[in-house]
Amino acid sequence: MTIDHETSPAEHADFAPQEAWDAIATGYAEHVAPGEQSLSAAALRLVGLSPGERFLDVAAGPGGLGLAAARLGATVLATDWAPQMVTQFESRARSEGLSEASAAVMDAHALDLEDDRFDVTGSQFGVMLVPDQALALREMVRVTRPGGRVLLVAYGPPAEFEVLQVFIRALQAVAPGFEGLPDPPPLEFQVSDPDVLRERLVAAGLRDVQVDTTQQERLELATGQELWDWMLFSNPITAIILDDVGVSEADRATMRAVVESVVRERAEGSGVAVLTSPLNIGWGRKGDLR
Ligand SMILES: C[S@@+](CC[C@H](N)C(=O)[O-])C[C@H]1O[C@@H](n2cnc3c(N)ncnc32)[C@H](O)[C@@H]1O
Repeated sequence: MTIDHETSPAEHADFAPQEAWDAIATGYAEHVAPGEQSLSAAALRLVGLSPGERFLDVAAGPGGLGLAAARLGATVLATDWAPQMVTQFESRARSEGLSEASAAVMDAHALDLEDDRFDVTGSQFGVMLVPDQALALREMVRVTRPGGRVLLVAYGPPAEFEVLQVFIRALQAVAPGFEGLPDPPPLEFQVSDPDVLRERLVAAGLRDVQVDTTQQERLELATGQELWDWMLFSNPITAIILDDVGVSEADRATMRAVVESVVRERAEGSGVAVLTSPLNIGWGRKGDLR
């Protein structure tokens, strides 16, 4: 599979518009976000976020890095282009009494924020998937203070993304002609090669760039329903593909049975199925002189 870095979003058949993210915001907060907490905390440890630092979360969804940063005692601004995601963030922060966390609607390509404002700027599974990633990374660097850090958490190779592979297997059970991911693959995988991630962070103006490939996203699932919900609510692309392929209600029931059987097999003995996906976590420092 080749990755075409020059393809525009319109040419990516599975590009999800802002409304599609709004539509899954409640489900994302309920079924996806809770499983990300330890990963977000680990990513913030890599950049050494300290209590009292100013942290910006870009394409924050209902909270990934931003909530973890606020729990650590940072002053947090979470931004996302989907108003319903911002509402979910605010509600989760309020319920935890995180008074130093606020949120605003903003496109990652044009942050409505002054230069040099944050000690650390991060994005987990957000700037990973935007169509003009170079621009969004430059924006993250622009709003970070000289000497501050910029962090990107992104998916590694799709072939090792176990949930995706289970989804493809379930879809092929009802649509045997479905060949898997398109070529080029969805924007979600534009920095699945750690060398590409490193190059892009350097091109955005960062120094001392490092990319960690040892962390995994680890989903612990007790039932097939949990895995099905994760597939449907983690990204609008799932529903877009089901529509594109013309999957009927009866087909969905068949797909869910496949998903259920995978969870049962994998959970045998422990009662919990663990599905992993490799990650590329990159970070760097904004130079003192510009
Ligand atoms: C997979 S979710 C990740 C959410 C969160 N960062 C997390 O770790 O759970 C992707 C998020 O990116 C947001 N997003 C997509 N394109 C965006 C853009 N151009 N500007 C800002 N947010 C965007 C979506 O609304 C969604 O909340």
